[in-house]
Amino acid sequence: MSREMPRVVFTPSGKRGQVPVGTTVLEAARQLGVDLDSVCGGRGICSKCQILPGRGAFPKHGVTVAEDALSPLNDVERRYDEKRGLAPGRRLGCQARILADAVIDVPPESQLHRQVVRKAAEVRAVATDPATRLCLVEVAEPDLHAPSGDLQRLNAALADQWDLPPAACPLSVLPRLQPALRKGGWTVTLALHRGPSGPEILDIWPGFFEAPLCGLAIDLGSTTIALHLTDLATGDVIASAGAMNPQIRFGEDLMSRVSYAMMNPGGAAEMTAAVRATLDGLAAGIATEAGIDPRCIVEVALVGNPVMHHLLLGIDPVELGQAPFALATSEAATLPAAALGIGSINPEARAYLLPLIAGHVGADAAAVALSEAPETSDDLTLIVDVGTNAEILLGDRTRVLACSSPTGPAFEGAQISSGQRAAPGAIERVRIDPETKEPRFRVIGCELWSDDPGFAAALGPAGVTGICGSGIIEAVAEMRMAGLVDGSGLIGSAAQTGSDRCRPEGRTQSYLLLAGAATGGRDIAVTQGDIRAIQLAKSALYAGARLLMDRRGVDRVDRVVLAGAFGAHISPLHAMVLGMIPDVPLDRVRSAGNAAGTGARIALCSVAARRLIEENVRRIEKVETAIEPRFQDHFVAANALPHASDPFPELARIAPLPRVDFNTGGSRGKSEGRRRRRPR
Ligand code: FES
Repeated sequence: MSREMPRVVFTPSGKRGQVPVGTTVLEAARQLGVDLDSVCGGRGICSKCQILPGRGAFPKHGVTVAEDALSPLNDVERRYDEKRGLAPGRRLGCQARILADAVIDVPPESQLHRQVVRKAAEVRAVATDPATRLCLVEVAEPDLHAPSGDLQRLNAALADQWDLPPAACPLSVLPRLQPALRKGGWTVTLALHRGPSGPEILDIWPGFFEAPLCGLAIDLGSTTIALHLTDLATGDVIASAGAMNPQIRFGEDLMSRVSYAMMNPGGAAEMTAAVRATLDGLAAGIATEAGIDPRCIVEVALVGNPVMHHLLLGIDPVELGQAPFALATSEAATLPAAALGIGSINPEARAYLLPLIAGHVGADAAAVALSEAPETSDDLTLIVDVGTNAEILLGDRTRVLACSSPTGPAFEGAQISSGQRAAPGAIERVRIDPETKEPRFRVIGCELWSDDPGFAAALGPAGVTGICGSGIIEAVAEMRMAGLVDGSGLIGSAAQTGSDRCRPEGRTQSYLLLAGAATGGRDIAVTQGDIRAIQLAKSALYAGARLLMDRRGVDRVDRVVLAGAFGAHISPLHAMVLGMIPDVPLDRVRSAGNAAGTGARIALCSVAARRLIEENVRRIEKVETAIEPRFQDHFVAANALPHASDPFPELARIAPLPRVDFNTGGSRGKSEGRRRRRPR
């Protein structure tokens, strides 16, 4: 043991070294690159630097820690303990000095770069590294003999106490500088943003200000907008809110919104104003709901497809409606949130827009790439973000490819005869008995299946109102598995299938899921038109994936990740029966939940993550489906259920499909495999 240069080991990082006796724990942490937080710069005010000193023998580290390894509790710590309370054994790292060999634990709440916790099965932790953080500075008082401005002395203090270059002070903050300095006794807390050309002061408070700084992670979808109020230091979501995208009234899908902009002078500006107003309203609402001072919301991260991105920025998306699909800008951007109409939060809050990948592949796909990190995977992974437009990524450590495919809104229940959005009363799960061809189902908002006792009572007066995206996918897949639909997508007649639920409708057939008379509502059926709509959507999705596989020169992928809020509800088996995704073992299909939203949250809380995705996006190879001649071939072949030519061996193993053909007056088909009852 050395009493001149004691050894110090920090846990859990394991970082170690020797420091001169008398060094504070905070100084030692800085010297050794240990992540120990501090807002007050070591003045014993913020308590962010709390540590837990170890005692006794640490054979693993080869260190024995004496009782007096750290200086005794000093007045600052005692005062803090009396006023606010220090947990037993805890010390303030900026006050405790190292006198002998020491082992110091840094608890998670004292780490500046805490991990953004991921819920996904394959957890990939991301360290927080926010662009804006609080910073306490003690500024020298003005001196008649050495005249200088308050801002200049503030900047001198920043250089001296935080080793920072001069910070820019916007005009909205400057008038508050002098009162804050005087009220705070020449001590102020700054919200300091790391801008591209140096620090920027976003806000100023007299004395020590300790409310957490927050940000908004916004996933701007063409149908829905989701917003997550997030603690910038921890990455924790404090509250979430969502709304329909108000631009829907100008057009359901992206191309109809581009057309609206083309056909109507001022149309793009109308759509810009509508979405900005909704974002601002959502931001104000979520702050109120969470009881957070809107002034503490200082960062925003936004993801969206190229059309959403351009309209939000006030850029006419007309160029995105035609080849070569030129983007006005594809790079990430940082700008005042107020410039995007988000004025209800801190007036100087900064908005970060993730980079776009290509004319049809947006910042939402970049956010999915940030969240799922295919570039770190040994397995060749196909990531599908299913929405009105499907964003598709295929890659591993060697290469990542991306494209988008126009699936249309059928997967969201639109263009379906009894379709509706996922809301209480919508059928979301369907099972059809392959013997009796009788269906049973579950609706959103009710735990029971339709054949469970008490279902009607549990359902409530609103009854069954329609079928949502996951429900129609399961219904069509179950019809295929039960031999009610053939490989070309044709519904058989009652005579062909042996089920009275198959009823003629013009020259085609439909399958009755629920007779309206039973519940006092309307009939809910799957029509031939519904199946065609699903076939078109799934063909677009599969063809996009196939194009990327062609580029990689592969026929198979190792894993499939279903992203998007809707992806979370798709049953992998049913998706494969329909041929929405390539054939892989079912246990290699995973749902990633709202990966675009997660990516936005990661970018919100980490400057390093922003730089990482900006770098990765440059490397992602873009495939433009609209001009790829093979897309049409893949699209046509993918029309069959599950596919006209691609083998689906894994699917055949777990769910052999009946060989039926209703096009040539074919008869009731024979199953390729044994009949089975599937679990609920
Ligand atoms: S660094 Fe603020 S109390 Fe120690």
